[in-house]
Amino acid sequence: MTGVLRSPRGVVSSAENTIARVISAAGCRDEEIASVVESSGPERVAEILVDEIVGRVDLPPVELDEEIVVQLWFTHGAKRIAHLVKAGSAGVTCEPGETREPHARIEQDLCEAVRAVFGPRGDGAAATRRLELRGSGTPQAFVQPPRAFWVTQRLLATMDDRDQIGLTELASRHGSDKWGIHRYTPHYQHHFEPLRDRPLTVLEIGVGGLSGGTTGYGAPDKGGGSLRMWKRYFPRALVYGMDIADKRALSEQRITVLRADQSNPVELHRVVEETGPLDIVIDDGSHRSEHVLTSFATLFPYVRDGGLYVIEDLQTSYWPRFGGNSEALDGPATSVGFLKSLVDGLNHEEILDSGARPPGAFDRHIKGLHFYHNIVFVEKGLNAEGGGPAWLRHPPRRRA
Ligand SMILES: C[S@@+](CC[C@H](N)C(=O)[O-])C[C@H]1O[C@@H](n2cnc3c(N)ncnc32)[C@H](O)[C@@H]1O
Repeated sequence: MTGVLRSPRGVVSSAENTIARVISAAGCRDEEIASVVESSGPERVAEILVDEIVGRVDLPPVELDEEIVVQLWFTHGAKRIAHLVKAGSAGVTCEPGETREPHARIEQDLCEAVRAVFGPRGDGAAATRRLELRGSGTPQAFVQPPRAFWVTQRLLATMDDRDQIGLTELASRHGSDKWGIHRYTPHYQHHFEPLRDRPLTVLEIGVGGLSGGTTGYGAPDKGGGSLRMWKRYFPRALVYGMDIADKRALSEQRITVLRADQSNPVELHRVVEETGPLDIVIDDGSHRSEHVLTSFATLFPYVRDGGLYVIEDLQTSYWPRFGGNSEALDGPATSVGFLKSLVDGLNHEEILDSGARPPGAFDRHIKGLHFYHNIVFVEKGLNAEGGGPAWLRHPPRRRA
């Protein structure tokens, strides 16, 4: 490995680029938010916000006897940008526009709302917000608060409090097999929680979506459950998925799906040209050992220090059908055999110059390995603490 981090160009699409700039500005001073809002266009930024709010809002499935319409007004200087959020039994939708008699009206300065939705958790404020709830002064509302109050409260909670839903719950909601068939979500949560509030770039290999029958994972409109789960879990991340099947139609705001074969380094380099440096990589693709190793060798150099590279379904390392082996357990060609060699790499500075183990390409760049049943988390970072002192490494010389 030539350096700690390979720096690709990172040619994200212009839509993703705008979102990335809005997310970074949301953690900065007010002037920087205002400047990004101006340069991106206040209307576009309002659209991004509403899409995000509607995607995140948690309305438990309850029967609503009428559609609830909430008017959002984002103000920016003399401008007022209007969107309607509509909640019905089938879900929540949004569209630009105004209505004369919404159930509720939320008005807020656009820049303040940007910070609330995309800034670090707890940074948001509602100093400029004005809220009108239709019928709030009526005797009926005292006896039986209308459903519209509750829908509005859920919208405000989405903007301000960032309901911190756990990964197991999110995996179940979004139909990812990371919980249920596998038990990975508690491990993910343990390692990812400290990163949750950061503006990250996440790449998952393997978009999924078994369509049943003989079509396997090929259906273009199926899958993406885990990508939507990461998007919800990391409110400030850009999430990328890549798959050998063409799943690009599953792209949406903050999710970009690319087509690439994880066994082909040229295609992997092309993926990173799009994503830029990576904070998290999750390999949930073919699970063939040789593919896992190629992807790791190609992508790990692009992971930032402090980032994580996760490999799922390590059981396949023991199964010949996936290029694994249940006999030669330390063989360097299987996923787990290779990962075991990284454990020696962690302690490379302690290995005496016996020639038993040549230096490994990743020795200085892996500072932690966390193994669980069928999954490993590889922590990127400088591993150069220095070995134990010479007087302790070698037995004392015998006096003549
Ligand atoms: C287990 S599914 C992914 C599930 C998904 N990550 C989730 O948690 O919901 C595996 C995916 O890997 C993809 N895949 C298989 N071989 C691949 C390869 N060589 N390169 C990239 N993707 C591959 C399949 O098309 C399939 O969509």
